[in-house]
Amino acid sequence: MAVFHFKGKSLKGELRTPSDKSISHRAVMLASINQGEVVVREFLRSEDCLNTLKAFLELGAEIDDRESEIVIKGKGKRSLKEPFNVIDLGNSGTSIRLISGILSGQPFYSVLTGDRYLRRRPMDRIAIPLREMGALILGRENGKYPPLTVVGREKLKGIDYKSPKASAQVKSAILLAGLFTDEPVSVTEPAKSRDHTERMLKAFGADVEVEGLTVRLGRNRELSRDLEITVPADISSAAFFMVGAAITPGSEVVLKEVILNPTRTGILKVFDRMGVRYEIFNKRKTSGEEVGDIAVYYSPDLRATEIKGDEIPTLIDELPVIALLATQAEGETVIKDAAELRVKESDRIKSTVENLKSIGADAEELSDGMVIRGKAKLKGGKVKSYGDHRIAMTFTVASLITENPVEIDDTECVSTSYPGFFKDLERLLT
Ligand code: S3P
Repeated sequence: MAVFHFKGKSLKGELRTPSDKSISHRAVMLASINQGEVVVREFLRSEDCLNTLKAFLELGAEIDDRESEIVIKGKGKRSLKEPFNVIDLGNSGTSIRLISGILSGQPFYSVLTGDRYLRRRPMDRIAIPLREMGALILGRENGKYPPLTVVGREKLKGIDYKSPKASAQVKSAILLAGLFTDEPVSVTEPAKSRDHTERMLKAFGADVEVEGLTVRLGRNRELSRDLEITVPADISSAAFFMVGAAITPGSEVVLKEVILNPTRTGILKVFDRMGVRYEIFNKRKTSGEEVGDIAVYYSPDLRATEIKGDEIPTLIDELPVIALLATQAEGETVIKDAAELRVKESDRIKSTVENLKSIGADAEELSDGMVIRGKAKLKGGKVKSYGDHRIAMTFTVASLITENPVEIDDTECVSTSYPGFFKDLERLLT
């Protein structure tokens, strides 16, 4: 249990929030099946990404973790070995789903599991297409839940998959499995999800074509590059300080080197509509991804907005903290088409709304989203994180403006994505 109360303080200063979680995972995964030497700098040393790193060590990858950089000497797609034990991926949905794609092309037996939260998250979304490609995937309740058993095949079948969800994890699992067939492989999504896998596959030398909402693998499916990858700062982590600054009088923060990939910056469009005052400086490219520095200022005249449809995948992980922002906006903010929130690290519709209400906000659940009515005077009170890092961080930020303290039952979970969160917060508080 932890108690926070920062009322009267503001956030000031510069911060390089931790590196991007999605890109850190993918850098290790692709480098481990690449033929060549890859140096990964600014790797996110959070629990989720360290679990991916450990998994590839268990699969026999040659990884030299020098702390400041990770050097991976890849020996190609066929170099992985049957793991000696069950692979535990902790809380990480990205790890279990993407690694299942890679293991589908490995002719050996693996078992993947995770913590009690991950073991309740749906895996049928990847099991269905990966089985269609020829892999054997077993799990609790007919492959729906981990532990998962994956018995792959040297040569998989092609697939033309119409994904029912805009999910980068589903798309990526299929593309990664697709490296292990010469037959046509394509994934079409209902809306565009984050495209880091596509970008990185190209950087490693594979042929990938993107046409609207369809991603197709081309002829060359070998990864064969010597690369240096510098991972940019994660906008999903920066978002906590961006919203914190916007709602806290006197605040002014600069978040450095933040990823500005258009599949990730939906929060900035929401800021535009809600009247958050921010500026972007120093736009540049780092390892194939756009980055920039974002200054955010206290924004007293916030307006409600509607967030729905194709915008949802571009800000999916930011919705809990955007909901907090909405409590300080005049009017009714409606978030819909976001049923995916129910199967994240927690049921984030329930965990966000229940906790917002318990600190004094006017919020209501929808089956696929939520309604928040502002502007509310937040009182503070008891919050349950449900083991979800983003819920714990959202409500820690809320304590910047609550009348009374916010008491959070479990904050250890923040190390899933942001181990230094409380230290960084402390540094910016003035
Ligand atoms: C991720 C994709 C998203 C996101 C998750 C990370 C990724 O999940 O919510 O935090 O790295 O591919 P879905 O693909 O399930 O939408």
